[in-house]
Amino acid sequence: MATQQRYTGLIERYRSRLPVSASTRLISLCEGNTPLIRLENIPRLIGKDVDIYVKFEGLNPTGSFKDRGMTMAVTKAVEEGSQAIICASTGNTSASAAAYAVRAGIKAFVLIPEGKIALGKLAQTLMYGAQIIQINGNFDAGMNIVKQIADHAPVAIVNSINPFRLQGQKTAAFEIIDELGGAPDYHCLPVGNAGNISAYWMGYTEYAQDLPGLPAVTDRRPIMCGYQAAGAAPFVAGKMIDHPETVATAIRIGHPQSWDLAWKAQQESGGWFDSQTDQQILAAQKMLSQYEGVFCEPASAASLAGALQDIGSGKIPEGSRIVCTLTGNGIKDPDIAISQCKDAHPVTIEANLEAVKKAILDSM
Ligand code: F0G
Repeated sequence: MATQQRYTGLIERYRSRLPVSASTRLISLCEGNTPLIRLENIPRLIGKDVDIYVKFEGLNPTGSFKDRGMTMAVTKAVEEGSQAIICASTGNTSASAAAYAVRAGIKAFVLIPEGKIALGKLAQTLMYGAQIIQINGNFDAGMNIVKQIADHAPVAIVNSINPFRLQGQKTAAFEIIDELGGAPDYHCLPVGNAGNISAYWMGYTEYAQDLPGLPAVTDRRPIMCGYQAAGAAPFVAGKMIDHPETVATAIRIGHPQSWDLAWKAQQESGGWFDSQTDQQILAAQKMLSQYEGVFCEPASAASLAGALQDIGSGKIPEGSRIVCTLTGNGIKDPDIAISQCKDAHPVTIEANLEAVKKAILDSM
């Protein structure tokens, strides 16, 4: 019988492209290797000849793409002897940091904006047992404090300003190329702190340089399209903003840390930044759920919302192959999901066959 090698995580899979040695203890939860799902119903619905794939990062161990960066960041923190890690977070980074800290046997401190993180993310972080520090301020304020704390306390920062985070996250681009046999024409993703768009660009660039038999480097990389929420869109404004607001709390960020790297990705790829209203983001989230069976969190849907707008206007032409990253799982934010389905009308009936039969026949 043929034996298949067990998948043990992205560091093992892409070891030669990551900064680890043979003796490095890998802190992993088998992250990565997420599905690239080809949309079947939405292209038909919009009447456009486009090939859209979604990279469903919500299926990582803690339900977001953060696990890709966290396996690397925590592996390196442990290798360097850290006993504790810290991050500021809109929710997903904190959940991921908390889980990988448990795995490593070290302590995690997370700074989160009070009342502004999705319920599922809070539940996860509590369950993993991280020390939660709620601040009376937004993500940007938390980030500002975390950047100074390393000089005052023995903790390793695991936000995406930690270069190992981007190293881990770049592997998503490798997986896409491995699966499609080449880069897509367009890569769309939500932009908050801007680490992820920078990491993808790094991944596409690195892989393109040594894939044999393909055309010149510049032709082998996608055009990068970064989408922000309209109330939290510093890249669209061209400057930092002080009071970001959006229903997509994951990307409620006005002072992105990877500012220069993200502009580099946009410029080198010939791409663009644009914004979507909260309404457009929520509509795309619902559309993905109700037409494709893919449930992502609101922030993630900014990628599809943006892609659909640019396909509609012709900015992304027909015939294109497009990948949208769905950064987090919809289950993380049950409040928004339920409030989006107020017209769903669940029925409550007696617990007997007759009543159930009637309920079914009534709604056929
Ligand atoms: N989508 C989700 C679901 C996120 O959680 C984030 C960032 C982003 C998109 C944006 O990615 O920051 O690399 O541009 N969440 C961070 C956090 C800030 O703390 O969980 P980015």
